[in-house]
Amino acid sequence: MSSGVRSHTVPAADRVAMSLPRLQEMKENGEPIVMVTAYDYPSATVAEAAGVDLVLVGDSAANVVLGYDRTDLVSMEEMIVLGKAVRRGLRTPLMIGDMPMGSYEASDELAVTMAQRMIKETGCQAVKLEAGGVSVQRARAIVQAGIPVMGHLGLTPQTATALGGYKAQGKSARAAIQMHEDAMALERAGCFAVVFEAVPAEIAATIAERLEIVTIGIGAGAATSGQVLVFHDLLGITTGHMAKFVKQYADVHATMVDAVGRYSDEVRGGSFPGPEHVYAIDDEELADFRRHVDDRALASAKAWEWEPLT
Ligand code: KIV
Repeated sequence: MSSGVRSHTVPAADRVAMSLPRLQEMKENGEPIVMVTAYDYPSATVAEAAGVDLVLVGDSAANVVLGYDRTDLVSMEEMIVLGKAVRRGLRTPLMIGDMPMGSYEASDELAVTMAQRMIKETGCQAVKLEAGGVSVQRARAIVQAGIPVMGHLGLTPQTATALGGYKAQGKSARAAIQMHEDAMALERAGCFAVVFEAVPAEIAATIAERLEIVTIGIGAGAATSGQVLVFHDLLGITTGHMAKFVKQYADVHATMVDAVGRYSDEVRGGSFPGPEHVYAIDDEELADFRRHVDDRALASAKAWEWEPLT
């Protein structure tokens, strides 16, 4: 196995930290790139232990962690708290911070200031922006400020309302042509990668083939350089409706409900905590302690009895 290969079967200590040149090399060698989201210390340690290549602190945190019903509601402050926690759990994957809606669109100055804030405060190594159009110019400004940028095309949840809802994009020739233009423009702006979300596989494949930079798909078929899934979706922590492109590799929600349910039953039934969960004390120390509290109880009872009436 080459020293660059990252897998959960490779001991963590032998894994090489991901870099942008290594990522580009993986694309060129046809080695699939694995990306997952993470939002806190435990999810970051799982991503680290599983040997993924890229970790995105996604604004999908809005839905899967913070309980909002839309990603555009999450703030920069919330993303920074989550990003800091993720940083503490990661060593080798490249960490990318998702720029929340409102943190980059208004001007190049705002975009650069916010991207710098994301990098400095969370310790992530790159940022991600959604959509084409004005975001291409913002991406260029951030890249020129020395910060690596990942683009995101197709279904861009921050602007889902404008796109007509959470549905596949690029399904007409006209929309696919625009996506191709946006992808080329993001590449020219200096982005190191582009995510394609909910895009017909043939469209993603055709655009990916024409791009020199890394492409990451989520609901965009198998032809992109890599794949990304939301941590809570792939583990089955999320419940309810799941997008067509999600593959659930575990049912962690059911496992958690079962465990917390059994704990509740045992507390209510008196079988937890058991003798194996309690701390022991030396008999003599215990006897001393009990004598002391009994003497005190006696003394205060006497003080009460003798208290003069006022
Ligand atoms: O926020 C997120 O999780 C994302 C991925 C789906 C790419 O943007």
